[in-house]
Amino acid sequence: AHQWRGVIEEYRDRLPVSTDTPVVTLGEGGTPLVAAQWLSEQTNCEVWLKVEGNNPTGSFKDRGMTMAISLAAQAGDKAVVCASTGNTSASAAAYAVRAGMLPLVLIPAGRIAKGKLAQAVVHGAKLVSIDGSFDDCLRIVRELGKHYPVALVNSVNPVRLEGQKTAAFEVVDALGDAPDLHLLPVGNAGNIAAYWKGYQEYAKDKLATKKPQMWGFQAEGAAPIVRGAIVEKPDTVATAIRVGNPASWTLAENARDESGGRIEMLTDQQILDAQRGLAAHEGVFVEPASAAGAAGLLHAKSQGWLQGGSTVVITVTGHGLKDIDTALDHIRVDESPVTPANTDAVARVAGLV
Ligand code: F0G
Repeated sequence: AHQWRGVIEEYRDRLPVSTDTPVVTLGEGGTPLVAAQWLSEQTNCEVWLKVEGNNPTGSFKDRGMTMAISLAAQAGDKAVVCASTGNTSASAAAYAVRAGMLPLVLIPAGRIAKGKLAQAVVHGAKLVSIDGSFDDCLRIVRELGKHYPVALVNSVNPVRLEGQKTAAFEVVDALGDAPDLHLLPVGNAGNIAAYWKGYQEYAKDKLATKKPQMWGFQAEGAAPIVRGAIVEKPDTVATAIRVGNPASWTLAENARDESGGRIEMLTDQQILDAQRGLAAHEGVFVEPASAAGAAGLLHAKSQGWLQGGSTVVITVTGHGLKDIDTALDHIRVDESPVTPANTDAVARVAGLV
């Protein structure tokens, strides 16, 4: 029986690795493309969800991290550093300790989901909570990487995007061609650039007959690309994409413009409604930021931007269990009173009689 070997071994000839590269993997990638019945019905399109919460640490970041940590290991690095809204730090921590390196992570204090914090802590990361935003954290880690013996593993490290582009390969491998549209959330803006790179490479090598339009979605309170200006105090319930000055800003604009796509913004309510819809109708529980692509699709439908019959892939970027506080805060929980332990009582409370 064949076991998925992780993105480096599965796509070795398309990645900047050599036979000397020690492959640090947790079996990332190979995530399911799930038919989205509810979204397809809502939009008269053929909609698929690329479920990246199924990666080893629960987000798409693992695709880039296997590359970053493998190449850091090859270079003999002993410590790695990243800034993060949570998922990058969880991933960096897991892959770094696996390679015997010390993970150092900078996070905006009080602004990351608890599940992600738990991951970094349990993996043994050295955690520094910064009195500032993600953008402040990123500025500092860039400086640390210049002046201290620590390898920077944020997506400003281009090998991260090389790893992340494999998700586009998987989509084409699964569908037999590229979709018409690819929708996803945009935060620090690396992932939209990575997918676009992957789709371009497959089209160039005739493994796909077309390239999708790339449609990215930011949260209204953290939408620097849509507004065309840095957001000094980004704010959104979707903490993962609370970014005011994305590192891959230009790459994201290029992906949008070269693909004939768009980058738009959504309210927090649209994002939370989509999170709820994905969970309630598709059976897919994602964290708030990860629902931005689905929210974007519903928004596009209401704006008349969609052409019926289109094939649409939406990346849902991270697992819902990472942020249960937000889920429970914003989704009404109808808890029944504590019920006697007998069948009749339960049948009554459950509304069966
Ligand atoms: N979705 C999730 C769940 C994320 O964690 C991120 C980014 C994005 C979407 C946006 O992707 O930055 O490539 O545009 N999280 C980063 C982090 C910022 O630190 O974990 P992007």
